[in-house]
Amino acid sequence: MNTQTAPSFAPAEAELLDTVADQLEQQGYALMPQALPPEIVDALFIELKQRRDWDFKPAGIGRQDDFQVNRFVRSDEICWLNGESPAAAGFLAWMDALREGLNRRLFLGLFDYEAHYASYPAGAFYKKHVDAFKGRSNRVLSTVFYLNPQWQPSDGGELVIYDEKDESEIKRVLPEYGKLVIFLSEVFPHEVLPAKRERNSIAGWFRVNNSSTWAADPAR
Ligand code: OGA
Ligand code: MN
Repeated sequence: MNTQTAPSFAPAEAELLDTVADQLEQQGYALMPQALPPEIVDALFIELKQRRDWDFKPAGIGRQDDFQVNRFVRSDEICWLNGESPAAAGFLAWMDALREGLNRRLFLGLFDYEAHYASYPAGAFYKKHVDAFKGRSNRVLSTVFYLNPQWQPSDGGELVIYDEKDESEIKRVLPEYGKLVIFLSEVFPHEVLPAKRERNSIAGWFRVNNSSTWAADPAR
């Protein structure tokens, strides 16, 4: 009997894990145009569209005690995933298998994963920021997974990743359907440019269980 709860990776996916690990090791970020099984992607998209009008709240910045909504910094709306739907459970299980695969290859000691849907109305943005300040957060790897069918370059809404030292532009990523981006949370300043259309995604963070960290993660 198979008692595993997380899906195990098929050979092609072990190769995918190798590729992600190599990219993270060599450049600190990884891009995968089509990583997750299409049926999970489509189910997530359907769920996002159903919940967007009811369950999403303006996103904030800062930690528990200084949490605030600042529309000049970010103007997206979010909804945390708790795995209660098959779509979210499938996504979180896939991410857990990714977590284990990366731990085996890179010895990152990733302990858990948290994620929220994010919806940016046309014109919305998230100004340049880092997801974790050095030594002050448990967040190690950031993930962004895009749910935008038929996204065109002229739609805008790119994720722009900057160099840590000189803040020059390293990479521009179109938020295309099924694409997954992973990067080191403490290293890369990044921003979301305004788009001409609504722009949907799932943002997430792999975290370590570091009890010596004195500051809590951002409020959720
Ligand atoms: C974030 C973020 C990037 C994106 O939610 O912290 O940087 O491309 N998102 O949506
Ligand atoms: Mn970010």
